[in-house]
Amino acid sequence: MTRRLGLAVLASGRGSNLQAILDSIDSGRLDAQVALVLSNTPRCLALDRASEAGIPTCCITRKASGGRASQLARIHDALVEADVDLVVNAGFNLILSSATVEHFRNRMLNIHPSLLPAFAGGMAPKPQRDALEHGVKVSGCTVHLVTDELDAGPILAQATVPVLDDDTPDTLASRILVEEHKTLPKVIQWFAEGRVLIQGRRTYILPEPVQQQTARVAG
Ligand code: GRF
Repeated sequence: MTRRLGLAVLASGRGSNLQAILDSIDSGRLDAQVALVLSNTPRCLALDRASEAGIPTCCITRKASGGRASQLARIHDALVEADVDLVVNAGFNLILSSATVEHFRNRMLNIHPSLLPAFAGGMAPKPQRDALEHGVKVSGCTVHLVTDELDAGPILAQATVPVLDDDTPDTLASRILVEEHKTLPKVIQWFAEGRVLIQGRRTYILPEPVQQQTARVAG
């Protein structure tokens, strides 16, 4: 039997995407295990959810680390030590170091509540507010690979929702969140099945596993 896909989930707040991952694992739709939940915020709901599920947690704050550089170095070490297949940024409000991004190249995901490349940057409800202010008729979420450029890595999946005339940033965010909770576990399952092919900026989800590794990089 092959090893289940090992995940580290990074979260800073509510942790509803973390919960969606845990629920998908529990219901058998996601063949993975969360080895670590790492936060940069003490006492956040994401850490509570992880503890409740019996998952090891780690909280690395800037203050306790004595500054941003050492915080990022400690996060890097914790992630490397966790020895996971995939790192998932699920509402993590810190930009990781280049060393970390490089170490997990093609093995680190982020979810963003807009149809990238529109309305990149910022945490909810900023992308949703920007979308409303711009007047778009459709919005949604994007799951993408993490690169050094913020919210600009190769796109793995997007899901759309209509923008309604009476939407506020909060109502739009709630409608997008429903799609986030389906899209993120689905993408992780593609990695678990070894079906993700990455060719430059283009990604392809193959009908069959490409080989026994997390993702295949071509070209
Ligand atoms: C989500 O909207 C996600 O797209 C964004 O931050 C939010 C996190 O929500 N990156 P939660 O903590 O998973 O509930």
